[in-house]
Amino acid sequence: MPSPIRWMNAALSAAFAMSMAAGAAAEPVSERRAAELERLVRHDCGSCHGMTLKGGLGPDITARRLAGSEPSALASIILDGVPEKPMPPWRPLLSEAEALWIADYLLKDASP
Ligand code: HEC
Repeated sequence: MPSPIRWMNAALSAAFAMSMAAGAAAEPVSERRAAELERLVRHDCGSCHGMTLKGGLGPDITARRLAGSEPSALASIILDGVPEKPMPPWRPLLSEAEALWIADYLLKDASP
């Protein structure tokens, strides 16, 4: 049976994506930092999630697989990791805005 919660998540992330696009000027992640974050996703995240992000030790984190996830939920996984699993916390290296930037980047399709 289709889950209304999943549908709502999708609607919420669509609304979020639009508000991000509208608020692009206020986005606290600079272009230069964005380039660094892209590199981090490729290299550091790619070491577990695969160079194409389609999965390795960590699961597939391509946009297709993550579709419907809330950016804030992904950002909190990125910041705090997954207890008892190899997904490490990135809070020492990333601000909340940067983790949210990465979540948004993954949802927009970061895979080559
Ligand atoms: C040491 C290996 C490792 C590294 C490095 C790593 N991850 Fe993970 N990641 C995992 C594992 C394992 C899981 C699955 C945890 C679980 O079973 O719930 C995971 C889960 C995730 C999830 C949740 C996926 C889902 O199904 O909802 C996201 C999003 C994610 N990682 C993003 C990242 C990002 C972004 C980076 C780089 C900043 C990163 N990971 C670096 C191992 C890693």
